[in-house]
Amino acid sequence: MKFFLDTANVDEIRKYQDLGIVDGVTTNPTLLSREKDRGDFRDVLLEICSIVDGPVNAEVVGENYETMFEEGMKLARMHENIVVKIPMTREGMKAVHALSGEGIQTNVTLVFSPNQALLAAKAGANYVSPFVGRLDDISTFGVELIRDLVTILGNYGFETEILAASLRNPTHVVDCAAAGAHIVTMPFKVLDAMFNHPLTDKGIAAFLKDWEKMGAKI
Ligand code: E4P
Repeated sequence: MKFFLDTANVDEIRKYQDLGIVDGVTTNPTLLSREKDRGDFRDVLLEICSIVDGPVNAEVVGENYETMFEEGMKLARMHENIVVKIPMTREGMKAVHALSGEGIQTNVTLVFSPNQALLAAKAGANYVSPFVGRLDDISTFGVELIRDLVTILGNYGFETEILAASLRNPTHVVDCAAAGAHIVTMPFKVLDAMFNHPLTDKGIAAFLKDWEKMGAKI
């Protein structure tokens, strides 16, 4: 299972880089807009590519096929690790098919149903991003979609990887892992929270207290 960070903040990305647990990064226009003080979005993306040795997702903003294809080509030329994120629309799937013909990696984003994921896989997407949290927000169980996609795409041996997105808490990560998502992308605070358990803290404190009583050094 792969872990991606869902952020464009290079400080957050650097923080756990040494632990070998971050396999890639997803950005979107909203996340990049939060880093506007760090300069041009291209510089931010290139800095991310210099930190992470894995896929770095950058999203197109055009709405028709021609613009999305052109933007996708530009983004892909920036760095070999860039994966072009394309929204699930008819024009978008045309761009996915054309970019994939050029050997460019694509991730279909804003996926909310099994049929949308099937269309993305058929068009040749390398990744499909079902948005778990945004489904939960409208009283629909987002993790059910992950379960369905694992079954449906698995039934036909599609190579498209299921990249569970819009994760809001550590429980989402566990549920997506149990459902069989290939990748989870999460905000820094979710990855950070995964480390925590009160019994771990309590156990460390008790061990240290007992060791101190012994007065020994390792
Ligand atoms: C990832 O690819 C998406 O852009 C992201 O997970 C969206 O998350 P949000 O629903 O919390 O904005």
